[in-house]
Amino acid sequence: MKKIQFFDTTLRDGEQTPGVNFNVKEKVQIALQLEKLGVDVIEAGFPISSPGDFECVKAISEAVKHSSVTGLARCVEKDIDRAKEALKDAAKPQLHIFLATSDVHMKYKLKMTREEVLASIKHHVTYARQHFDIVQFSPEDATRTERSFLIEAVRTAIDAGAKVINIPDTVGYTNPTEFGQLFRDLRENIPTFDEVTFSSHCHDDLGMAVANSLAAIENGATRVEGAINGIGERAGNTALEEVAVALHIRKDFYQAETSITLNQIKATSDLVSRLSGMPVPRNKAVIGGNAYAHESGIHQDGVLKNPDTYEIITPALVGVEKNSLPLGKLSGRHAFITRMTELGYALSEEEQNESFRRFKQLADVKKEVTEDDLHALILGQTQAANEEVELRHLQVQYVTGGVQGAIVRIETENGDTQEDAATGAGSIEAIYNTINRLFGQNVTLTDYRIQAITAGQDAQAEVHAVIQDEHGTDFHGIGIDHDVLTASAKAYLYASTKCQKARLKGVR
Ligand code: KIV
Ligand code: ZN
Repeated sequence: MKKIQFFDTTLRDGEQTPGVNFNVKEKVQIALQLEKLGVDVIEAGFPISSPGDFECVKAISEAVKHSSVTGLARCVEKDIDRAKEALKDAAKPQLHIFLATSDVHMKYKLKMTREEVLASIKHHVTYARQHFDIVQFSPEDATRTERSFLIEAVRTAIDAGAKVINIPDTVGYTNPTEFGQLFRDLRENIPTFDEVTFSSHCHDDLGMAVANSLAAIENGATRVEGAINGIGERAGNTALEEVAVALHIRKDFYQAETSITLNQIKATSDLVSRLSGMPVPRNKAVIGGNAYAHESGIHQDGVLKNPDTYEIITPALVGVEKNSLPLGKLSGRHAFITRMTELGYALSEEEQNESFRRFKQLADVKKEVTEDDLHALILGQTQAANEEVELRHLQVQYVTGGVQGAIVRIETENGDTQEDAATGAGSIEAIYNTINRLFGQNVTLTDYRIQAITAGQDAQAEVHAVIQDEHGTDFHGIGIDHDVLTASAKAYLYASTKCQKARLKGVR
């Protein structure tokens, strides 16, 4: 069995998804969950790109203990210096540097000749190795790079000390046959191929990112890059959870092992989906809502007789196990804490008290509290602990066919309360106009989505709101509550808090 390393770029390439914008606390929360999932390397950001990104890489370096943490840098000395500073407290730091090697990128974007590109790779990998033991080099747009030049660029990076070579299909252009051949060509033409780690980084423009990554593994790659739920630039990156499960279910074929804890997949996917505001399509492989639902009568009959007939992945494998004993308002603290522990939450005494209080509140208004509710409850609790502004009071005056009114009271971290009122054509508009007055802000609501966390009339609502400031920057907030108006107010309030923080600090 060969070992395949998992390199997660949810927080770097994943954040390049249009409209996705994590703040420091959210990034740290995701990084800690990625560590629990067992990824080998976490790409925490691109430190030179903004003060906010620098802060995130630094905070993640301090928080993560077992996975390696890396940051991205161009072939520019000040990028490498900035990454070094951001990663200085990481237990296992690595550096990821890149430079484009395709003719189209060199000619139009870089305005550099092949000789200049090779010289830059040599200089910057050598420079980076003075500061980092593990340097990964990526020849950007590798799949559209002339093959002999790609081999020369890769050899140059290895000779200069790169320990990992990552092959990006930057524009999602390749297919599994070609990508497999590319790795075979590298293996045949690079004498030290086995002494270096080869990695793949695929984009999903033609819907082949996962298949291409698996083709790379079949042909010599021992590291795979991707993002949870496949989020990322344009059509996204390789969905890491799909690769992990494919390698597990088809171990007979791939003969590969990973350090991924498969039953953490659902929790990781849910967290990324909520914090990114990118819902997982119901028909998505491995983690979609329909992935374990059998609709046709023939299939249902088969599964009841023996699940092997139509189910190659069990829900429990990826942590989608539905517990047959849902909790309700008569459930006691012991049953609640036991279930939370089964779900993988290690809560402190104080967190247990707070989550049990929230559970009792929810159970009062909801007949059955399901696992999804419990995950949402913890998310809401973590969010409330992280947020500097809390919704204390919401009152909505609804009149059929008339102007709606809202009163909102908020409380800041230091206990100050503020209250205001406004009107709107609808209840949500009235609430959002009120929050705009409280924050003195002039923003545009660019996205508003609402979904039920579970089925049933008493389901909790999960609302995503995205607002855009006058500079065109998006800020995302989530609100969870059994009442849709409260959930909507919380989502907008949290997005507004982020927007205000950015305004005051000049960082995301
Ligand atoms: O897609 C790409 O080429 C990248 C590189 C920075 C690896 O994200
Ligand atoms: Zn990419």
